[in-house]
Amino acid sequence: MNSKPIIVALDKPDFDSALALAKQLEPSLCRVKVGKELFTSAGPGVVTALHDIGFEVFLDLKFHDIPNTVAGACRAAARLGVWMVNVHASGGPTMMRAAREALGETAPKVPLLIAVTVLTSMDEAELAAVGVSKRIDQQVNHLTGIVNECGLDGVVCSAHEASAVKTYFSRLATVTPGIRLSEDSGDDQRRVMTPERAVQSGSDYLVIGRSVTGANDPVQQLKTIQQSISAVS
Ligand code: C5P
Repeated sequence: MNSKPIIVALDKPDFDSALALAKQLEPSLCRVKVGKELFTSAGPGVVTALHDIGFEVFLDLKFHDIPNTVAGACRAAARLGVWMVNVHASGGPTMMRAAREALGETAPKVPLLIAVTVLTSMDEAELAAVGVSKRIDQQVNHLTGIVNECGLDGVVCSAHEASAVKTYFSRLATVTPGIRLSEDSGDDQRRVMTPERAVQSGSDYLVIGRSVTGANDPVQQLKTIQQSISAVS
């Protein structure tokens, strides 16, 4: 287990509320994630502001477009100096190779490039509704194989699939949203797991949003989770 496995999702509607939340957290305890809501509202300036207060940023924009467009978006993300960026694996191997090649040009600071397999909000029925007849675990393994061949650094999957990913593709980092404390509601997430079990199941990075950001004292909640996962890793 790496020393800083928690990534807090700053799913806030604007710059000020995201910065206010980030300032309650500690860069020594976690990294932060900027997703579609915050980025669309606040723009690249929010990434710069988070860097300025010491955080490493996972830019979670899940690029899914034609190869040329995704390559350009990845280059733009690298210019922002983010720690991690992602694409959708279902964008296909040509798109993922284009993203990999684009980031190869961004040295010396190359962000980690990972790919979303099956969203943690999806269950078998949702997957079937978009025409995928495989079981979720089969589809995650299938897409992870392509991610591996394209030379990416890791996958986003649920913690339920992390151990299989680690068994077959040990070099890939596993980034797992859908983390819930035992007392929490699942909200819109379908494939959820507690932080301790996720780490025991092979998650390298835990993406945690509402379980931390919705707590009365987010930094205390973060410390409690960090201690509980340290105890099992
Ligand atoms: O609040 P919660 O812990 O459910 O937040 C999870 C975060 O992880 C959200 O920002 C969501 O966009 C993101 N995410 C996800 N499932 C994926 C990829 C990212 O839930 N497959």
